[in-house]
Amino acid sequence: MKNRVLCALFLGLSGVFFALVASAQQSGQALLESKCGSCHTRTDDGLERIKDSRRTPEGWDMNIVRMMLIHGVKVTGEERAALVKYLADTRGLAPAETADRRYLLERRSNMVEDQPDETLAVMCARCHTYGRFALQRRTEGEWLKLSHFHMGQFPTIEYQNLGRDRNWWEIAKNDVPPLLAQNYPLETQAWSEWQSHAAHDLSGAWRLTGSQPGRGVYHGAMTFNKSGDDTYSISLNMQYADGSSVKGSGSAIVYTGYEVRGSVELDGQTVHQVYALTPDGDSMSGRWYLRDNDVIGGDLSAVRNDAQAHVLAVQPRYLKTGETAHIAIHGTGLAGNVSFGDGVEIMEIVAASADTITVKAHVGDGAVPGQRSASVGSVRMDDAFVVYSTIDSIRVEPENAIARVGGDGPLAPVPAQFDAVAYLNGADGKAGTNDDVRVGVMPATWSVENNSEAAAALEDTKFAGSIDASTGLFVAAGAGPNSQRPFSTNNAGDLSVKAVVTSGGSAFEGSAHLVVTVQRWNDPPLR
Ligand code: HEC
Ligand code: HEC
Repeated sequence: MKNRVLCALFLGLSGVFFALVASAQQSGQALLESKCGSCHTRTDDGLERIKDSRRTPEGWDMNIVRMMLIHGVKVTGEERAALVKYLADTRGLAPAETADRRYLLERRSNMVEDQPDETLAVMCARCHTYGRFALQRRTEGEWLKLSHFHMGQFPTIEYQNLGRDRNWWEIAKNDVPPLLAQNYPLETQAWSEWQSHAAHDLSGAWRLTGSQPGRGVYHGAMTFNKSGDDTYSISLNMQYADGSSVKGSGSAIVYTGYEVRGSVELDGQTVHQVYALTPDGDSMSGRWYLRDNDVIGGDLSAVRNDAQAHVLAVQPRYLKTGETAHIAIHGTGLAGNVSFGDGVEIMEIVAASADTITVKAHVGDGAVPGQRSASVGSVRMDDAFVVYSTIDSIRVEPENAIARVGGDGPLAPVPAQFDAVAYLNGADGKAGTNDDVRVGVMPATWSVENNSEAAAALEDTKFAGSIDASTGLFVAAGAGPNSQRPFSTNNAGDLSVKAVVTSGGSAFEGSAHLVVTVQRWNDPPLR
């Protein structure tokens, strides 16, 4: 029952979080006093409990939803948005404190996350991600209270797997709080310095580039118009290398001086955006995804049109020796001579503007394979593209993926999107080692196979879903139970995804592991 309420609230939540961004204008301080002060006692430096932690906007929103659910706190959507804004601004995380955990904010599926502390990994990251607590900062006492909250709310925590094989509560009470306070303390230099950061107005035109798994690279433009304190109306367009394009408009808000969250309607679909602004306020990067299917999305980086000149991207990302091709250099303030280094001859400038220079280039047979820089006038981008003569191996990304059955109830199936990425062996001549050179995403033919004897016996390839042979998009099957399967089991499966890339007359193969599992009923903003 509780899970269903939680699930419904969080579904509503992502709507509130992104849709009401423009109304987060009420006085957060006054709201905090009136909505939270009845239980959280006032002290000289703030309300008890609330003053002793710092969180991301998503982290604060989850906290408020929990107050609503467990403690019956009543706030409207607008009040909630205003509270999140105030709390994230006054008790947020500095850019350096979120840098290595942005995947969680960006809702990147299929990340195998870094879990640096073994005790914390086994004690605290079996139900949710390690990132959920690594994106909070607390005093030691406040970390201890979090252990108490878990024990009180979820008492079976002691008896479950990885609980019953140790004295879970003793460790959670004695060892975990000091460890967390040491790794994620309330007071840090990064935060005290960030609190005096310069506030930036994002208004104006931005140039963007990026890539979408399954669809390819794109470039485009984004415009911000100020609509209130830290809120904007935005419009954007993206032109894909395959010739297609999308455009749309919506709104955005900035939390903590750098956490940009936007929501736009793109071709009839609602798209959420999660970007981090750089401290100079001139560029931002992150990920956008479909609100209703966050597996589908893309990486994006943007830079202000009036910032100093930049080379943002060279498209395509790779060139073969002996080839003559059109190459686009995207950026801002582009002017001057184009150079791709030795062995790549610029034959003709096809078109040139401050945003994009398109050239016809020839890659000599003797051009040295590897990463290349691209320069225009005095600006330069390292590792802008790769020259290759023959590729050496294919890796499928992501290497480990999860898809989820669905569709027979309230939750749609969750797909998985794969890309086939070509690599060169690098100096050691061996595939699969650290010095391999990433060439880029190549067209592939996709298929799935059963990944184990058990999967073969249950005919998982037949029941768990299917992969599009040309785009690498795996769509999971209906949830089941399915009477055609032994024991009328559901449509889960254990599959191996195979990509075949043909290059230079040879076929290269890569594979990944795909687990097709059951629905995720509780899907909060920070998993
Ligand atoms: C009806 C009483 C009540 C109200 C009103 C209330 N809280 Fe709480 N809050 C609690 C209780 C009880 C706890 C401790 C148990 C827990 O963590 O759920 C708590 C814990 C917390 C914590 C620490 C939780 C953690 O992650 O460890 C924060 C932060 C917090 N509240 C924020 C708020 C905010 C913000 C508001 C106003 C929107 C609010 N509370 C309103 C009762 C309340
Ligand atoms: C038995 C599963 C389980 C274990 C083990 C577990 N958690 Fe949680 N944790 C939860 C659930 C469930 C929630 C609250 C529901 C939600 O928001 O998804 C939660 C919430 C949280 C939150 C967000 C609280 C808030 O309101 O902001 C943090 C931070 C957290 N856990 C950290 C930890 C730490 C640290 C440990 C190790 C001591 C831990 N968790 C162990 C299940 C678990």
